[in-house]
Amino acid sequence: MRHILIIGGSKGIGKATLNLMISSHKVTNFSRTAPAFTHANLTHHGLDVLEDQFPSLDTVDGIIYCPGSINLKPMNRLSMEDFKSDFDINVLGAVRVIQHYLPQLKQSSSPSVVLFSTVAVKLGMPFHASIAVAKAGVEGLTKTLAAEFAPLIRVNAIAPTVTNTDLAAGILRNDRIIESINERHPLKHFLNPDDAAHLAVYLLGEQSRSMTGQVIQLDSGIVSVKL
Ligand SMILES: NC(=O)c1ccc[n+]([C@@H]2O[C@H](COP(=O)([O-])OP(=O)(O)OC[C@H]3O[C@@H](n4cnc5c(N)ncnc54)[C@H](OP(=O)(O)O)[C@@H]3O)[C@@H](O)[C@H]2O)c1
Repeated sequence: MRHILIIGGSKGIGKATLNLMISSHKVTNFSRTAPAFTHANLTHHGLDVLEDQFPSLDTVDGIIYCPGSINLKPMNRLSMEDFKSDFDINVLGAVRVIQHYLPQLKQSSSPSVVLFSTVAVKLGMPFHASIAVAKAGVEGLTKTLAAEFAPLIRVNAIAPTVTNTDLAAGILRNDRIIESINERHPLKHFLNPDDAAHLAVYLLGEQSRSMTGQVIQLDSGIVSVKL
């Protein structure tokens, strides 16, 4: 059974990924709060990925790093601390985990790492300066590590548009806004967590063995299509 390390399996896209994988994989989850259920294949460690020590794991075949931020402010209201904290949780947390478990990934026969960017890197959007900068870092990390770790470890990123999770609750705050965000997408809907989780499962598994260094726009067309 492949062993997948999920950072952030308690909520959102990580939770949806955990739900899809748990019956057929050994899963270790790191998050500050616990997932809502227990399972024989699941081990949870309550920890903060930026501060706490990581447990030793014998094997790791895949890592999916889900912590992120949505900190939308006009440029004149973004502090240096905003830029730094977005960089910390989006980039440095992932760096910490990958560095720590690199020896285990190298022992796997088909290791895979999945990171998260956002459509706001490719599509210039107002008020996204600090998150776009941080996620551009994630994309750079994805490309660099895909090259550095080839041919063994594959590294890919998913760049989702708005996804209905706790993180986006402040954006999706009433029906009028929800309708207008749906309408703005060429496919007329934003994402639910399963949309991203199915892609993550594919990228973590051996069926995607020929993909590395990709940043996949999961965008309902908003970046890719002009109507
Ligand atoms: N939702 C969107 O609209 C959207 C759009 C574009 C990109 N993205 C990206 O997609 C990824 C997943 O987003 P999501 O919406 O699923 O996020 P989410 O609902 O906030 O879930 C994030 C997960 O990460 C965990 N986490 C956060 N900070 C942590 C920390 N310091 N230490 C350990 N665990 C931590 C959370 O668990 P605890 O709180 O229990 O620790 C939670 O399980 C993120 O990188 C996000 O930037 C999301």
